[in-house]
Amino acid sequence: MTNQSALLCLASLLLLLLLYGTDAKMIIVNTKQDVLVGEEILLLCKAGGEGEITWQKDGEDIDEEKVTVLDETSSKLLIKKATIQNAGTYTCVCNFETGHQDEVQRQLYVYEGPSFGGTKTYHEFLEGTDGVVPCLGTGQPAVDIQWLQGSQQIPTREGERLRQLPDNTLHIEKVRRDDAGTYVCQAQIRGRPVFQKLSVSVVVNAPPKVLLKEEVKKVMAGSETNVSLLCLVAGHPKPNITWTMPVTLDPSRHQFNSDQSQLTILAVARADYGEYICTAVNKIAEDSATIMLHVFEAPEVFVSAEQQSVLVGKRVSVSCNVSGHPHPDLHWLNKHNGQTLDMTSGRIHVMDGVLVIDDMMPSDGGLYSCMAVSSSGNASRDVVIYTQPGPPHYLSVSPGPTSVLFSLKTPPISGGQPITSYTLQWRQSSAEQWNNVTVPASAPLAITTLKPYTLYEVRLAALNAAGLGQFSNLNSVRTQGIREPDSPVLTPDEIKVKGNTFSTPLTQTDDGGLPLQHFIIRYKQDKEGAEWKELQLPSNADTISLKDLSFGSDYRLQVTAVNANGSSIPATLKFTIAEKPSSSLTMTKGSVVGIVMVIFFVVFLVVDATCCYRNRCGLLMSIAVKLFGQKVPGLKMLEEESGSTNGDVKLKGLSTPRGSMQQVGVQANTKEGGQLTEVTCDKAPLTKHEKTHPDRNQSAADA
Ligand SMILES: *[C@@H]1O[C@H](CO)[C@@H](O)[C@H](O)[C@H]1NC(C)=O
Ligand SMILES: *[C@@H]1O[C@H](CO)[C@@H](O)[C@H](O)[C@H]1NC(C)=O
Ligand SMILES: *[C@@H]1O[C@H](CO)[C@@H](O)[C@H](O)[C@H]1NC(C)=O
Repeated sequence: MTNQSALLCLASLLLLLLLYGTDAKMIIVNTKQDVLVGEEILLLCKAGGEGEITWQKDGEDIDEEKVTVLDETSSKLLIKKATIQNAGTYTCVCNFETGHQDEVQRQLYVYEGPSFGGTKTYHEFLEGTDGVVPCLGTGQPAVDIQWLQGSQQIPTREGERLRQLPDNTLHIEKVRRDDAGTYVCQAQIRGRPVFQKLSVSVVVNAPPKVLLKEEVKKVMAGSETNVSLLCLVAGHPKPNITWTMPVTLDPSRHQFNSDQSQLTILAVARADYGEYICTAVNKIAEDSATIMLHVFEAPEVFVSAEQQSVLVGKRVSVSCNVSGHPHPDLHWLNKHNGQTLDMTSGRIHVMDGVLVIDDMMPSDGGLYSCMAVSSSGNASRDVVIYTQPGPPHYLSVSPGPTSVLFSLKTPPISGGQPITSYTLQWRQSSAEQWNNVTVPASAPLAITTLKPYTLYEVRLAALNAAGLGQFSNLNSVRTQGIREPDSPVLTPDEIKVKGNTFSTPLTQTDDGGLPLQHFIIRYKQDKEGAEWKELQLPSNADTISLKDLSFGSDYRLQVTAVNANGSSIPATLKFTIAEKPSSSLTMTKGSVVGIVMVIFFVVFLVVDATCCYRNRCGLLMSIAVKLFGQKVPGLKMLEEESGSTNGDVKLKGLSTPRGSMQQVGVQANTKEGGQLTEVTCDKAPLTKHEKTHPDRNQSAADA
């Protein structure tokens, strides 16, 4: 194989020689100048002319057996396995046939290596120590060593942190993390372009170092709160991280990232507080650090009841407790007046977180609040404490015909819950049981089933969720209702009497709830045995008029108003019709004379008739005798009448109405005035009559 390739080379060289050939030039052609021990060495000498070619090495002839003469102009020197000793200067000498001698020389180098033997290609150093990396480069004839970092030569100068020592060792002073990497040891056959490279890895180890971003972590507890604790670790090889926790590991709540440098706690609870220790370990050492986790809890308030109903006058207590971290302060607040309650706040006070109301009052009803106050927040919870409403005050009562309506100027104190309805009560007397009706608070507060025109006691009380409140004070009220009319009103001051007529105004104030039908007027003389006279007036009458009453009489009048329900109590009145005014008060002397003459005439007639009857004497007798003869009709009757009425004649005449008496008087005056002057027979009764006459006039005027 080698021979064939050598021949091929040679052939190509010969071709070159033909192309460039000059006839007298000698050359030695060889494959390479540096030959590894054991390799074949082939030298070809071309003389450029015919002659005898011989070989010398370092001036000494070479054994014939190693030399092959190819032809007249070239010779080949072949050494099968090169040794170090084969290195040297080879000379090809040609004695040309032309007689002159020429020669050409070629230097050949033979080497062994370079090799690195048992040089370690991996080194670990602890950070900060001095690192020594040997390079055991060997070879022949000699080897030069050079350390490289990348393409940079590592210097040999003293004082450099990284330097190559004279014994070809790489020395790293106080190894740093960034010194880690690959270094190359390059070995070169001295003076020749023959070298070998060896890569050596340098690893810098460091003990673990834990770095914390936060040593104290504060977080609010909560199901939505996650907290991450971060442990930053340096060191080589990469340390393993472990955590020590104040609670046992719960994989559902404790999550780690891939290198465990971050611990996430889900749904942080108060119990998670404490020291979290992060430990980093590698083969060099271990390190740890502590994170303090503070877990705050928002305050929470618990109350024993959110609604508490209590009867007026009773005691109520509501307990409250608070939780949270830091532990909150507890306060009770009366929300309707904003007052903070404590041990000293009296009837409504707080003892060990328990709100106590002694002797509940309607005005205590309302919202109370238990509050938790802490630096991590506030919380509160409201409690409704309620009782029955207070009694209604400021009410007015207005009656209807069969109803009573209450109106409240201000609603009663609610007691802490809305007033839903009112209970209305009524009775006719305190001996009776109360009747009840309950009406919604929005409806009219009316009792509607009462009897008309009846006196009732009524009262009401408000009702809420706690029950019925205290009743109002009693109110007495009379229903209007339907009834008899009130008595008509008569006014004695406005009576008018004119002669024997009477009138007075009539007023009706109250018809009793039904239209008036009429008035009944009754009147009679105010004396024993007098009969009532009755008449009706229409309901719209405003005057009572009576006519043709008796002069000089006292009367009694009764007026009654009537509706469908009955008659009123009668209104009564007394009045007097005066005596017919006497004409003597205005009589002339002539009329007095006339009256006297009539009296005389009557007396004369009486006397004459008496005379005539008893003694058959007198003027009448004489006239009768002249007219009828001895027999006189009616004489007997006249005699009987005058006998029974003896002494009463004057009284009868005076009791007749004045009008007719006057007429009689006038007739007597005109017809018989002339004749009376002749009557002279008995004067004694006449005198008596005259005396009584003025007395009667006087009494009539008085009346
Ligand atoms: C807490 O972590 C859980 C689980 O990773 C996640 O579902 C949730 O959204 C997180 N909550 C918050 C407030 O980040
Ligand atoms: C506080 O409230 C909690 C929850 O209602 C209850 O378990 C606890 O017993 C209460 N503590 C007191 C002192 O009332
Ligand atoms: C908590 O309550 C206190 C006192 O009642 C008040 O000063 C503070 O502002 C409140 N804080 C919050 C967060 O409401």
